[in-house]
Formats: sequence, C-alpha cells, structure tokens
Amino acid sequence: MNVLVLGSEGMLGTALMSVFENAVGYDKEELDITDRDMVLERVIEREPDLVINAAGYTNVDSAESNAELANMVNGEALYFISEACAEVSAPLVHFSTDYVFDGKNGDGYS
Ligand SMILES: NC(=O)c1ccc[n+]([C@@H]2O[C@H](COP(=O)([O-])OP(=O)(O)OC[C@H]3O[C@@H](n4cnc5c(N)ncnc54)[C@H](OP(=O)(O)O)[C@@H]3O)[C@@H](O)[C@H]2O)c1
Repeated sequence: MNVLVLGSEGMLGTALMSVFENAVGYDKEELDITDRDMVLERVIEREPDLVINAAGYTNVDSAESNAELANMVNGEALYFISEACAEVSAPLVHFSTDYVFDGKNGDGYS
C-alpha cells in the first residue's frame, strides 16, 4: 500500500513511519500543509492509497496567542488535504485531540 504521512517528523508521524515501513513521509520543510497549491501538487503527484495527517499545531498555550496560525494548521489545512485526497480517491486519516473539549464533561468522551 502506498501510504503518505504528513508531519512525518513529529511524535505521531515518527511512530507511523516506523509502522508503515514503505510509507513516504513529508515533514514541514518538505510540505507545509497550509500551502494549498503545495498540498495539491505533492499529494496528487504521489497518488497515495492512504494519507495520514500527523501534522498539527500542538503547542496548546501558544495556540491561544497564535490563534490564526493554529486554526490554519489544525483547521483550514484539512480542507486542502481533503481536496487533494478527493482528487486521487485516497482515504484520509486525521487525529483530533481532547484539548478541543472544555473539560466540563470530565475526562471521558466517547
Ligand atoms: N501525541 C499524542 O499523545 C496525541 C494525542 C492525541 C492527539 N494527537 C494529535 O496528533 C497530531 C500530532 O501530534 P504529535 O504529538 O505528533 O505532535 P508533534 O510532535 O508536535 O508533531 C506535529 C508535527 O507537525 C508539524 N507541523 C506543524 N505545522 C505544520 C505545517 N504547517 N505543515 C506541516 N507540518 C507541520 C510539526 O513540525 P515542526 O515541529 O517543525 O513545527 C511537527 O513535526 C496532532 O493533531 C495532535 O493533536 C496527539
């Protein structure tokens, strides 16, 4: 299977690259997911069977002061990746985080 991992040098990305031994990985230097043209070009040229997005703006505290960039990386960029995946009919796996919840329901979310 031709697997493409985005954000391949982060904690999750590194783990995924070791699980999918033949995967192609792009780190931020190689593919900035906030650059729509680059996302479309790189994903379409690879024709992956599966795209896993492990890229993310993960510094929770600085996300509050850099809300625009955090929203771009964790929100808007997903439209670009989805668009590219649709072009090549590749499923997209994306990871969310419990940090998006306010904690009012306690620790457990199903
Ligand atoms: N680790 C966990 O336990 C955990 C738990 C639940 C959910 N998640 C989710 O899993 C995802 C990855 O988390 P992680 O722990 O692996 O975080 P991480 O170690 O901070 O890795 C995130 C990676 O994304 C890259 N990145 C940031 N902006 C980018 C951009 N514009 N384009 C391309 N790459 C970009 C970062 O590169 P730079 O370092 O160069 O900025 C980094 O390599 C996040 O969505 C996170 O919310 C993780």
